[in-house]
Amino acid sequence: MSKRKAPQESLNEGITDFLVELANYEKNVNRAIHKYNAYRKAASTIAKYPNKIKSGEEAKKLDGVGAKIAEKIDEFLQTGKLRKLEKIRNDDTSSSINFLTRVTGIGPAAARKFFEEGVKTLDDLKKVEHKLNHHQKIGLKYFEEFEKRIPRAEMEKMETLILGELTEIDTEYIGTICGSYRRGAASSGDIDILLTHPKYTSQTEKQPKLLHAVVEHLESVGFVTDTLSKGDTKFMGVCQLQPSDDDEEEYLHRRIDIRLIPKDQYYCGVLYFTGSDIFNKNMRTHALEKGFTLNEYTIRPLGVTGVAGEPLLVDSEKDIFDYIQYKYREPKDRSE
Ligand code: TTP
Ligand code: MG
Repeated sequence: MSKRKAPQESLNEGITDFLVELANYEKNVNRAIHKYNAYRKAASTIAKYPNKIKSGEEAKKLDGVGAKIAEKIDEFLQTGKLRKLEKIRNDDTSSSINFLTRVTGIGPAAARKFFEEGVKTLDDLKKVEHKLNHHQKIGLKYFEEFEKRIPRAEMEKMETLILGELTEIDTEYIGTICGSYRRGAASSGDIDILLTHPKYTSQTEKQPKLLHAVVEHLESVGFVTDTLSKGDTKFMGVCQLQPSDDDEEEYLHRRIDIRLIPKDQYYCGVLYFTGSDIFNKNMRTHALEKGFTLNEYTIRPLGVTGVAGEPLLVDSEKDIFDYIQYKYREPKDRSE
């Protein structure tokens, strides 16, 4: 998962920017995930609204914009700023905790703990490096590089490399680069790869080797440079493209996640990890209305008592849309 979301470009950028900033504050400082979701949802609806918003009242007609957000929009439109945000930005606790969570491996709880120990800045973190776990150390090492988004052209190069190397190991591997890249984004925060193999299903034994062979191969060609964590089904790490002769500059280190998924659960996984997270929430809600429960692994019918039945057979993303009578949406149309 990437920590820095692409800024929303819309007629109402000022509004969507302050909503995203408030969302992050709620998640990182207050650990109020519902408020985070509410602000993100409002920002996303407003981002696709085709007119320049002139009042809170106008915004309130949109899905996910309630009275309190409308009030903030009025204040922002009338004064050009928001007192709540000014206060947050000027508050040492909030701004420090918010900052610390930008390091991969430091979540809201660790950030608060570090803050309480007097650790507030990058320099402070460097001084207490011995207190960081391995993941956090790598996060610190590549802090500046991980803050930069990955241009689509570079994502395309990495996709070609990864899918090419997969067939070198075993032609039967199936791999998909999901996340914002699959949705057609101009830039991505990280690389999210899903991997499966016909010999691996939810009925067979675990096959961590299928994942580890890929990681080791990508290390051997110099693409994967660091490991944050490596389990049976999920690898989190760092990668870097090697420059070719016509490249002027070196490529940056990038965050990469590789997940190995049983073949029968692959398309639920691809759907989930393609996102966006807001699209996923809306689709899950729709599924429930149609009597199904959908998650990153399976889609299951809900019985009259609300108990989930056996997973349904899924052989494509389209199958999932069909089960819940949802009009198929191409990845590029899944921002919400
Ligand atoms: P991310 O990599 O966090 O998101 P992204 O790829 O859409 O955006 P970015 O360019 O910033 O990397 O997560 C990948 C997908 O996983 C996301 O699009 C949807 C899914 N997801 C959820 O549905 N809920 C979540 O809470 C997270 C973290 C991810
Ligand atoms: Mg991503």
